[in-house]
Amino acid sequence: MTYDDFRAGEKQGWDARADAYGTATARATVQSIPDLLAAVRLAPGMRILDVCCGPGYAAGAAAALGAEARGIDFAPQMVRQAQARFPGLAFDEGDAERLAFPDASFDAVLCNFGLFHVTAPELAMSEAFRVLRPGGHFAFSQWCAPDENPVHRLTLDIVRRLADMNVAPSAPDAFILSSRHTAKGMMAQAGFTDIALRDVPILLRAPAEDFFDFMMRFGVRIPLILERQTEAVRAAIRKACDVEAQAFRSGDEIHLPMPGIVVSGQKEGLLP
Ligand SMILES: C[S@@+](CC[C@H](N)C(=O)[O-])C[C@H]1O[C@@H](n2cnc3c(N)ncnc32)[C@H](O)[C@@H]1O
Repeated sequence: MTYDDFRAGEKQGWDARADAYGTATARATVQSIPDLLAAVRLAPGMRILDVCCGPGYAAGAAAALGAEARGIDFAPQMVRQAQARFPGLAFDEGDAERLAFPDASFDAVLCNFGLFHVTAPELAMSEAFRVLRPGGHFAFSQWCAPDENPVHRLTLDIVRRLADMNVAPSAPDAFILSSRHTAKGMMAQAGFTDIALRDVPILLRAPAEDFFDFMMRFGVRIPLILERQTEAVRAAIRKACDVEAQAFRSGDEIHLPMPGIVVSGQKEGLLP
């Protein structure tokens, strides 16, 4: 299956969300960056590639710690956001599944919550392996599956209960890499050794009054399902989300745990 509609929807969806990203998705995604940097043993002077960089937060953090960082993303508006936010760094349009860099050209590769969206994550892993120098590390973050992730449990339970899933675009399994066993197996398949995994406790803080609208700005996968539903179904989903989120209210905000994992591996060999 090629998932062409899904891929086009993801690209367009992230493009449209680039301006709002800093006040929506980034509230959760930036929380895993210290674990990613630790997993690749970040040190000053290292050449870092941030894949699926969005507005470039992981590259920016690596550069702030003395690395020579750059990023790629397939959404042009994300690349523009990253260039505006971190003007000293290089950001380019590019595809995680076909990186436009020579073999062995980076000391470390990072991907912060990008593989959840990539159509063929196994290709992205092989590409990360290819562009790494021997001895270099690749690390990616991934959301935990709904059974251990209250944000995804709340939203997906409602969508699965109320939406007509037959009209949703075919999409690759979002949570394939949430299985620690599968994630490790795919990393090994791509050639990595010394595969390690750490849990990352992330807390999502969303505005209490428009939780549904916030979640529509936050991600792309659920909006791709909802845009094919009838107005009545969308209204029912909106109401259920806004009501059920109130159980997690803390003052003016909804506080919901949204845990992730960071998976890392090494390309065997010695750094020169
Ligand atoms: C959830 S955002 C993560 C952004 C950023 N890494 C962060 O730390 O917040 C996912 C990003 O992956 C990008 N993306 C999805 N599929 C891609 C692909 N095949 N190649 C490059 N970028 C991709 C999207 O455009 C989006 O910017």
